[in-house]
Amino acid sequence: MKVLVVGTGAREHALALALSRDPAVTSLAVAPGNAGTVQVAEALPVDPLDPTAVASLARGFDLVVVGPEAPLVAGVADAVRAAGIPVFGPSAPAAQIEGSKTFAKQVMAAAGVPTAAADTCHTADEAVAALSARVPPYVVKADGLAAGKGVLVTEDLLAAEVFARDALATAGARVVIEDFLDGPEVSLFAVTDGTTVRPLLPAQDHKRVGDDDTGPNTGGMGAYAPLPWLPAGTVEDVTASVLQPVIDEMSRRGTPFSGLLYAGLAMTSRGPQVVEFNCRFGDPETQSVLALLDTPLAGLLLACATGQLANHPPLQWKPGASVTVVVAAENYPGTPVAGDDVVVGDLPDGVAVLHAGTALDDDRVVSSGGRVLSVTATGLSLADARDRAYLGLEAVTLRGGFWRSDIAAKAVRGEISVPTQEGS
Ligand code: GLY
Repeated sequence: MKVLVVGTGAREHALALALSRDPAVTSLAVAPGNAGTVQVAEALPVDPLDPTAVASLARGFDLVVVGPEAPLVAGVADAVRAAGIPVFGPSAPAAQIEGSKTFAKQVMAAAGVPTAAADTCHTADEAVAALSARVPPYVVKADGLAAGKGVLVTEDLLAAEVFARDALATAGARVVIEDFLDGPEVSLFAVTDGTTVRPLLPAQDHKRVGDDDTGPNTGGMGAYAPLPWLPAGTVEDVTASVLQPVIDEMSRRGTPFSGLLYAGLAMTSRGPQVVEFNCRFGDPETQSVLALLDTPLAGLLLACATGQLANHPPLQWKPGASVTVVVAAENYPGTPVAGDDVVVGDLPDGVAVLHAGTALDDDRVVSSGGRVLSVTATGLSLADARDRAYLGLEAVTLRGGFWRSDIAAKAVRGEISVPTQEGS
């Protein structure tokens, strides 16, 4: 099988690495890729946001896997599908489940999926009124794609108002203001062909830049899977109460969703509630989830792309756990410093370094983005995987580079608990 992955991040490097291990894959390319994906796949230059260019590049491939949300919202999967090539990733209308918070809320309401009460605001006056009607912490979400920077959660009413005003400054923009959902967060991914839904291992992201969840939000500073603190049966319950109803509702309204549905959940005292949906694999959770997948990935994604997921065997997972720590460039998540040498020495067993913001400058690997590398380790236990990930970081040299020191630490110490459900 000839497979093309579209994207530039560590998620795409993780996808390429997993695909390269599938014996069915005879040829693998990443477009445009980064300085790490070239270690496992051919690099093909393309503008990933140009549907016509990607569809043209895809000729001759048996499967195209679109990694990031922006190409999906721009219609890249539609163009590839229209060219008769199987593609893993939703159509542009279906990708609105991530592209528009308002659309996602409408789908959830129709599907009976538990989520925070919300107001969609078109003006600053509406936003101020919606914020005044709530108690802190305030949650403000820009209604379009914002590369992980479109959400503010703050105790500060003035900061919430300023964020909402700024988000509304573009013509036609909307913000969604919603109730805060308390409780530990879970990223639950499911692969789907538009009808059948198969959940992957649950993971947890660390979104704030600093240890102990301090500082501004980022695209994600680290993740681990699975979640030892998650009550047994949660994945099955959420599949039945959230993922399957949403996939059914997307079909019913004429925007069937195939690809990866990412449910961001809060485990509240009223049970799991949806914080957000994304239309693609999460980053950095994917790095940990795919490190534990034993099922050959290309066959699984092709089954989704061709409507055959019901005939695919159950997913197989490696025992143990995986921890991913993101190495960020100086000044991230502000304007990151680029152009520094990225050097990776010998890695301990069970550790992989996945590239994100890296580029080749002749034979040098240099930083070119905010999140530069993901160091992903597997181990027999979460503690073991965490120790290995931090040992792996000792092999990384990047001037000004930094990372959180507490990825998966609370879970290892047994400090995460799910609130008791009301009425139970
Ligand atoms: N880990 C957060 C995201 O992928 O959106």
